Amino acid sequence: MSLSYFMQTRRQRVEHALSQWLPAPDIAPQRLHEAMRYITLNGGKRIRPILVYATGAAIGVEEQLLDGPACAVELIHAYSLAHDDLPAMDNDDLRRGVPTCHIKYDEATAVLAGDALQSLAFHILAHDETMVNDPQRRLEMIDSLAIASGSRGMAGGQAIDLAAVGKELNMVELENMHIHKTGALIRASAKLAALSRSDVDLELIERLDHYAKCIGLAFQVRDDILDVESDTNMLGKTQGADAARNKPTYPSLIGLVKAKEMAQDLVNQALESLNKLGKNADLLRQIARYIIDRQS
Ligand code: IPE
Ligand code: IPE
Ligand code: MG
Ligand code: MG
Ligand code: MG
Repeated sequence: MSLSYFMQTRRQRVEHALSQWLPAPDIAPQRLHEAMRYITLNGGKRIRPILVYATGAAIGVEEQLLDGPACAVELIHAYSLAHDDLPAMDNDDLRRGVPTCHIKYDEATAVLAGDALQSLAFHILAHDETMVNDPQRRLEMIDSLAIASGSRGMAGGQAIDLAAVGKELNMVELENMHIHKTGALIRASAKLAALSRSDVDLELIERLDHYAKCIGLAFQVRDDILDVESDTNMLGKTQGADAARNKPTYPSLIGLVKAKEMAQDLVNQALESLNKLGKNADLLRQIARYIIDRQS
């Protein structure tokens, strides 16, 4: 199956599931529910849910077990974007080609909508009837996503990012920031899919985790590169925002050429960790390449 067909169909699949889970906009408090739907359903590549489904395909997990995990990671991601764009953080007014949540609504609504999206993510992992049944597994999933989202994961990475504005980080510090703010959730996507398999194969989980760690870092390196090279129309967010805010990034530290080499090297490492997996992992291989070739 081609990656573009897989991406298109799984994007539709997760968007349908998300739309069902999100409270309808006419249910009170309407403005909050409207904002939650605005943040979540206004486009986006859905790369994390796609990774959940592709990991499942690689290791033989039935797709219907994966809708819950796919929605949960995307909701955490959507919340992280709404908060990332706030004036207190990156102060961006364009996201996915439309005004950011705090511009369309207001700051308090963007904060609350992000909070509520995060809660909904964990509600889904606790309650979704189509997911793996075993309560112990569910707890592991909830815990994995909690760690990946919290102060030792995405939120921690965002704190490092904000503290680093205007400073020059070294390579180790920069990598640490990227691994947390972006890598953790991408890694969690593969982990939740692996935890959905009936039998747990620790070595397999280890390989997939290494794959996801490498592509997670590569994803943010590419995000940094696109901020320099792409344009606002293509990105759906303001090009050049990192430089304008003095953010430490891979291109600013090592230049565009080396940043691209590094992203390629990470993808090679990711592909290597799939060596022992068969043809079923081809989608994961294509996703790794897509991550550094993508234009938005
Ligand atoms: C943007 O993520 C923020 C980062 C973590 C780099 P995406 O590039 O996945 O954003 P959407 O969901 O496609 O809009
Ligand atoms: C955002 O990184 C990471 C998270 C939202 C957790 P960026 O600040 O680089 O993301 P964009 O470029 O605004 O999408
Ligand atoms: Mg940011
Ligand atoms: Mg940002
Ligand atoms: Mg960025």
